[in-house]
Amino acid sequence: MARRNFVAGNWKENLLTSEAADLLAELLPLVQNINDADIAVCPTYLSIATVRERVKGTNIQLGAQNAHAVEKDGKLIQSGAYTGEVSPAMIKDAGCQWVILGHSERRQYFGETDEGVNVKVRACYEVGLKPIICVGETLEERDGGETLSVVDRQVRACLKDLPADRVKDSVIAYEPVWAIGTGRTATPEQAQEVHGAIRALLRELFGDATADVVRIQYGGSMKPGNAKELLAQPDIDGGLIGGAALKAADFAAIIEAARG
Ligand code: PGA
Repeated sequence: MARRNFVAGNWKENLLTSEAADLLAELLPLVQNINDADIAVCPTYLSIATVRERVKGTNIQLGAQNAHAVEKDGKLIQSGAYTGEVSPAMIKDAGCQWVILGHSERRQYFGETDEGVNVKVRACYEVGLKPIICVGETLEERDGGETLSVVDRQVRACLKDLPADRVKDSVIAYEPVWAIGTGRTATPEQAQEVHGAIRALLRELFGDATADVVRIQYGGSMKPGNAKELLAQPDIDGGLIGGAALKAADFAAIIEAARG
């Protein structure tokens, strides 16, 4: 089953708006003719409007890095007295197609849980915003032989109560926590083992038609030097790129490696 690779840049808490514009100005000519892989950038909320104008009419899609939603009395709330928060409805309104949810940095530093991510995922579908759902084990969990059980639990919980036809539009990002920003990458075999397990779980939960189309990105120190071998694995369908997405040439080289 041929899935189109999807490479997304997670700019994290980096780049002033002018710097985001400069990075795009460098990136656009490098990737403008690529039409056999999907590309997205995820700036801070504050740069979204500027980036949206710059990517209009190009092959670069736009995403946010988080969203806020709560469920009250069985209803998903997308606005209200939640100072400092931004809902999926607002992110969609700002022109984004994507939002990263449940990134390990949010789990680690901001107390996010699988249950909370599930609420956010369902709120995204309510407004037609597509989630990039992050899962992955810590070093302690890997060393304890718990990798597959941790990821299984995270995927099940994050996708709980979602119909198969909605899950089709989701992207799962497998990001081993020990590989994020550390320069230490999972080997292609380590990554494929987990990606294959995620695909098998999607098959069990949602059936073949969904499992065959959901793209599973790898994230964690993906860079030009290791992208090709990671992307050659049968169940790795792109990358969620942090550090290397802040350099136009490196990000473009990863996208090049992801071409169909
Ligand atoms: P990294 O980050 O590429 O800098 O390891 C990936 C991510 O956190 O999404």
